[in-house]
Amino acid sequence: MNTVDEVKERLDIAEVVAKQVRLEKSGRYFKGLCPFHTEKTPSFYVFPDSQRWHCFGCGKGGDIFNFVMEASGFDFRTALEELARQANVPLREQSPQEIKAESEAERLRALLEEAISYFQTLLMTSPQAAHARAYLRERGFIRSTLDTFRLGYSLDEWDATRTYLLGKDYTVEEQIKAGMLVERDGGGTYDRFRDRLMIPIYDRRGRPIAFGARVLQADQQPKYLNSPQTPLFDKGQVLYGYHLASQGIRDADAAVIVEGYMDVMIPHQAGYRNVVAPMGTALSEAHLKQLQRLTHRYILALDPDSAGVHGTLQGLQTARQTLDRDQDAIFDARGLIGYEGRLKADIRIITLPDGLDPDELILQNPQRWEALIAAAQPVVRFFFQHMLAQGDPKEPKMKSRIVDAMLPLLNDIRDSIEREAYAQEIAMQLGLDPRSLMDRLHAMDRAEAVRVQAAVRDMRPTQHTPSDLEAYVLMILMHYPDLRKRADEGLAELQMRSINEEDFPARYRLIWSSWAEVSEHPELELDDFLPSDMLELTHEWTSHALPEMLPSQWERDVLRTVLRMREKNLREKLRESHQDLGMAKQENDAEAVKGIKQRIKGMSEHLIQIQRALAQRPIQG
Ligand code: UTP
Ligand code: MN
Repeated sequence: MNTVDEVKERLDIAEVVAKQVRLEKSGRYFKGLCPFHTEKTPSFYVFPDSQRWHCFGCGKGGDIFNFVMEASGFDFRTALEELARQANVPLREQSPQEIKAESEAERLRALLEEAISYFQTLLMTSPQAAHARAYLRERGFIRSTLDTFRLGYSLDEWDATRTYLLGKDYTVEEQIKAGMLVERDGGGTYDRFRDRLMIPIYDRRGRPIAFGARVLQADQQPKYLNSPQTPLFDKGQVLYGYHLASQGIRDADAAVIVEGYMDVMIPHQAGYRNVVAPMGTALSEAHLKQLQRLTHRYILALDPDSAGVHGTLQGLQTARQTLDRDQDAIFDARGLIGYEGRLKADIRIITLPDGLDPDELILQNPQRWEALIAAAQPVVRFFFQHMLAQGDPKEPKMKSRIVDAMLPLLNDIRDSIEREAYAQEIAMQLGLDPRSLMDRLHAMDRAEAVRVQAAVRDMRPTQHTPSDLEAYVLMILMHYPDLRKRADEGLAELQMRSINEEDFPARYRLIWSSWAEVSEHPELELDDFLPSDMLELTHEWTSHALPEMLPSQWERDVLRTVLRMREKNLREKLRESHQDLGMAKQENDAEAVKGIKQRIKGMSEHLIQIQRALAQRPIQG
């Protein structure tokens, strides 16, 4: 029996649900008020026989896992961990390395806990923290908010924290690992955080994983110093404030995404508890995926003066001056539209009045914040309005510029009705014939493929790996196995190879090949091939409810995603080849240069072919 079944067998769904919902016995089942929508008479049922639940009011339902996922906003993995603990089922056969890693992580979390309390005490009581207290007061913090977010202060000394933690039996090595100590070049260590406001960062379950630390003197750099990458902390994945915001996000059925720590804490203090922030990186699909269980509606609060809006809209490359901040933390309209399509999300944008961050705005006037949120614009319309504001839209030249800017965005909208509606809206407002706009859209697609190709040539390495397209394809194929054949046919029509192992990164290859094997041999099961952690992943995928779409739409979706995967992989390979080329040139190795150039040419041609295919109407439906 696998872990999932074992958990199900050992736990009683009614008991688990009863922790969060008041249930009454009614015949063979239990009834209660649905926790997922507001109601006065109970339509939420738990069926002990089948160990399932269903709400006849809002239509939600499922097994014990779905319940915990819904009710706590966990992903499958987290729900499984939680329930396995309650059921006393060892999660799986853990390898000795995993057991070691887990106990090490436990220890690091305990270390951070200790540090948090230490910094908190300093902030509250130390005479040396007077300026920190004054600073927080000035920024509008009240005491309970300091407690909620567990803010603290680090002394202006090279070894105060180290000494404290050593006294709690945490070794220097552990402190380095947790990101608290920096190693000196010539040997020795010193405290990373000195004379800073300490902001603990938590994972989704509220366990500490890192610190953000703000300067208290205006002339110091960088403004925020964050913990480095550690076994606990991957900054590109984390949403600051998540564990305190998840209930608020569910209640509001919307998540507001802001840029910084302060912009999470102050709104929370003012009662807006659905706010989270990435850690100074661009909003990624990984971020949105974490929020997906709580809501599909996202509102991005952008700072108009950040590199973001101005930079992108005017096509300037305005890098952030701040040191510890990724340069790609910018507003990427096309990226967002891609997320909307893939995640069935509704992404809206607000821009803040010049010079004001959400925290300042809310402290000045909360109603204004509410009004802004209520007036949030869909990405396309937001972008269009910014374009309109760039010049006189009555000028033919300007009209053409605006259309050129809008077309790629329109092209990325997955839903054809939505796409057409926006095209009409834009045409109307510019006084153009909608049909001519649609025609232009088609022509642009082809030109775009060539242009993107040119951009690839002077490509820089990508900072973070893009979305997990591969998992998405696997998930859809597992739901609709027939699609594989149809996608392969589509690829054959394009004279491309069918979906194969090489399309997947190492971590999914075994899943792909096992699934391919099993789907051809019904007598086999995935359990026969996959280790339990991968099995759990596939379980997660297959239990993930997919949105309603026509089969033809799914087909198009799989095909496009495979093409995108290949585009991504090719770009990566091209980038590597360009590096090789540079190296070979430096070494004056004419033979190698020739060979690599040949390789690059072949890959570029293939890339163009893929991009053409992506830009073609038939695939887009
Ligand atoms: P901002 O520069 O917009 O700061 O950075 P802020 O959050 O408004 O802070 P205050 O109001 O000046 O105190 C936004 C976010 O970018 C990251 C942090 O996560 C910050 O909250 N950042 C910024 C860094 O990681 N390092 C920096 O040096 C600056
Ligand atoms: Mn700010």
